[in-house]
Amino acid sequence: MNRKKCFVITGASSGLGKALKDFLISETHHFVVSLSRRAEPEDISTERIWFSYCDLASLDNTDVIKDICDKYQDEDIIYINNAATILPLHGVGCFKDDELAAYFKTNVEAPVRLINELVALKKKGLTVLNISSGAAKRAISHWSLYCSAKAAVNMFCDVLAIDRPEVIVRNIDPGVINTRMQSQIRESNIPDLQIFADLSGNDQLKEPIDAAREILIDFV
Ligand SMILES: NC(=O)c1ccc[n+]([C@@H]2O[C@H](COP(=O)([O-])OP(=O)(O)OC[C@H]3O[C@@H](n4cnc5c(N)ncnc54)[C@H](OP(=O)(O)O)[C@@H]3O)[C@@H](O)[C@H]2O)c1
Repeated sequence: MNRKKCFVITGASSGLGKALKDFLISETHHFVVSLSRRAEPEDISTERIWFSYCDLASLDNTDVIKDICDKYQDEDIIYINNAATILPLHGVGCFKDDELAAYFKTNVEAPVRLINELVALKKKGLTVLNISSGAAKRAISHWSLYCSAKAAVNMFCDVLAIDRPEVIVRNIDPGVINTRMQSQIRESNIPDLQIFADLSGNDQLKEPIDAAREILIDFV
């Protein structure tokens, strides 16, 4: 059995993040830190999980990263930047000013601040897995916020990899997964709606637990 590691997951209370947490708890012996807005019953009942409340939309400091580094100073840390939002989905020109600020706070500013602090404090044994998307590299009509936020964090991580070669960094496109994010896309009025309706209708969405296993298999 290899040494215990600490997996830190943002947004571990639903969707892919919850599946990552479930896989780690049921299939491995590692620790999990859930940086999420909501605690799940297992977060309280399972000794290997540490829940820390984190709302990226209102993140005002990065103290939680110091707490994690203090608590898990003997373990390697694998930080998974998973939490993200896709709404609002509108054509450019239709966003309200405050929507734009809120979107980039949650999807770029807060994740980048947390990763920056972690890199500052964890001098060795750090891996950063950024859950990215094909949308980081491909323009999709009405997805300007999601595409540009994913591209920004991708590039931040690419530069991190050359700034700090001792940190293992991966941008991971998890594929199309059966989560709330896909429901939100199907409930929107984007021009490519039929493509996403067909993926779901034809059973072509990955189950979150299968996507989680694929992502984690090389790191456990
Ligand atoms: N689903 C797909 O087809 C697909 C494809 C490519 C990439 N991805 C990426 O996979 C990752 C997970 O997405 P998903 O499909 O699991 O979507 P999801 O079901 O909508 O889950 C999104 C996660 O982000 C969290 N979150 C949202 N706003 C937050 C905030 N302000 N503070 C903290 N956490 C917040 C949510 O927490 P709550 O439970 O509290 O809302 C939830 O855990 C995302 O990075 C997404 O871009 C998904």
